[in-house]
Amino acid sequence: MTPSRRPLIAGNWKMNGMREDGQALATELAGRLRQEAAPAFDVLLCPPFTLIASVGAAIAGSGLHLGGQACHAKGKGAHTGDVSAAMLADLGCAFVLAGHSERRTDHGETNAEVKAKAGAALAAGLTAVVCIGETEAERKAGKTLHVNGTQLAESLPAGATAANTVIAYEPVWAIGTGLTPTLEEAQEVHALIRAELFGRLGPDEAENLRILYGGSMKPGNASELLALPDVDGGLIGGASLDADDFWAIAQSCP
Ligand code: PGA
Repeated sequence: MTPSRRPLIAGNWKMNGMREDGQALATELAGRLRQEAAPAFDVLLCPPFTLIASVGAAIAGSGLHLGGQACHAKGKGAHTGDVSAAMLADLGCAFVLAGHSERRTDHGETNAEVKAKAGAALAAGLTAVVCIGETEAERKAGKTLHVNGTQLAESLPAGATAANTVIAYEPVWAIGTGLTPTLEEAQEVHALIRAELFGRLGPDEAENLRILYGGSMKPGNASELLALPDVDGGLIGGASLDADDFWAIAQSCP
């Protein structure tokens, strides 16, 4: 963390939760944020589409932010099963993930599609959380920096600024596995992302744009990851489903 950037702690609930437990978790987290005298972090919840409305009601007025996990690149139309960025905004979302590795794998989302979806998010007034990360094979082949640099260059939407875009670096091999990069490895990729952003967006935007780390972030490793100079928060999957764990991570922000 660098003091000029306010950490963002984002919970990606993935395909988990029924109305009752989603509402209970959201209510609990809203209560915890209200108890913080002066929280030094922003908190974002990204429930599945089915829970966005009920979670939104449970967190209303709490200061917690609401986001979707994905959106379509088009504003509306004949796209069965999809949801537009404007629909998410209409439900009170301020954020949406774009290009999470599970979307890239399960739905074959390419960098160009991720860029289009992130662009649609910006057009709808949402902040896009653009996700990138290398696979285990790519890391073993020494391609980590190249892969992340390419994904970033090809997925970053036109008009990206520090105010409307967040990058999440999530090594695919660290997601849901309990594995994490060393601190040096994590900082190396975050620094590369920051350097690429300097070239693309200029120093002011690059300096202020938040870069999250994601992949098996837990209460036990959050403090050291969040203390790295170019790590500005976390995108948390498994541990975001447990209020104690998620809040412990948020409170680990330096
Ligand atoms: P994980 O997931 O924390 O369960 O590893 C992170 C993510 O996929 O966003």
